[in-house]
Amino acid sequence: MSNAPAPMRALILGFGNVGKRVAEILFEERDRFPGLGALELEVVGIATRSRGVILDPEGIDMREVLERIRRDGRISDSVARNTDLTALIRETSFDVLLELTSLSIERKGSPAVDHVREALWRGKHVVTANKGPCAFAYRELERLARERDVRFLFESAVMDGAPVFGLARRALLGCSVEGFAGILNSTTNFILSQMEEGMEFADALSEAQRRGVAEADPRHDVDGWDAAAKTAVLSNVLMDAEVTPFDVERVSVADVSISDVQAAAKRGERLKVVCRAGRLHGGLHASVNIESFPVSHPFALVQGMGNILELQTDLMAPIRIVQTEPTLTDTAYGVLRDLLELADVA
Ligand SMILES: NC(=O)c1ccc[n+]([C@@H]2O[C@H](COP(=O)([O-])OP(=O)(O)OC[C@H]3O[C@@H](n4cnc5c(N)ncnc54)[C@H](OP(=O)(O)O)[C@@H]3O)[C@@H](O)[C@H]2O)c1
Repeated sequence: MSNAPAPMRALILGFGNVGKRVAEILFEERDRFPGLGALELEVVGIATRSRGVILDPEGIDMREVLERIRRDGRISDSVARNTDLTALIRETSFDVLLELTSLSIERKGSPAVDHVREALWRGKHVVTANKGPCAFAYRELERLARERDVRFLFESAVMDGAPVFGLARRALLGCSVEGFAGILNSTTNFILSQMEEGMEFADALSEAQRRGVAEADPRHDVDGWDAAAKTAVLSNVLMDAEVTPFDVERVSVADVSISDVQAAAKRGERLKVVCRAGRLHGGLHASVNIESFPVSHPFALVQGMGNILELQTDLMAPIRIVQTEPTLTDTAYGVLRDLLELADVA
């Protein structure tokens, strides 16, 4: 008889870029990543909005699913539009929910917030890459997870797989985060870098879309909503705030002209979209603004798709974490890292 631990049974909601990359790494490329050795996942359900739903309590053949979606653009023939995902969470037997649906600012993080709430309520662990749950309902969901004695993990929600929350929770144990500043939206950083090379805003945006960096509807990036959501997540999780993206002061990078970028360059500076939060008058002030930095400043050196986050704490001088040209594999790693953390306790 084998002593190997039983695999964690996962229900996956959303099977787009991130879901597929996680599945490719785990089920097709596993041999290349020996560090994932302890992680055994059995997928018992996958639901998408328009690409089908599959349920199999005995475990889904994930190689077949990946082949099918690459071939047909669907995971199954079943129509998903009317599937009540909250009911699916209630009625399916699983150990961990992978919430990988899209962020909705307009719907205040729903339906992802409802999915996470339902799973935690049922006493199931949750791993999500979606910013919505922490940007709109962190305090409630974290409390629910504690009450139900399960984990609510979201490392890839900010800076993909870079260990932002792991750093603050584990490596900086005992430090209180008093503020942060960061370049956290790759699309706008890429646009500003291209404008510095002389490209007009609209062309730089088209190039970002062509490379698959910007979202199909890029307003979330351009108008600062993605950055505001990340600012809200960091504020709520690291600074015990209770803000939403609507509370974050915000500007649009569309207001920056090529002459603004070039004037900054003449001064020896670079313009960046910066997310910030800090304590102010007993409350918290959070913002997404365009700031100018001397070219030798660590923030100015983060070009293209790169990201940087500086954490200001009470016990340590500022700590910076820099991410150079992240890809989807970085995001998938954040999800896998959370699953590995669960594998220790599940
Ligand atoms: N891409 C990145 O590098 C990255 C990095 C960090 C965080 N994230 C976050 O990770 C999440 C997934 O990103 P992604 O790039 O994989 O997005 P994506 O490619 O757009 O895929 C989203 C998936 O969620 C499904 N979906 C959306 N709304 C749904 C709903 N209401 N009910 C059921 N299914 C729904 C979509 O269904 P259809 O297939 O039918 O459209 C699709 O399968 C997002 O919240 C994103 O913000 C992404």
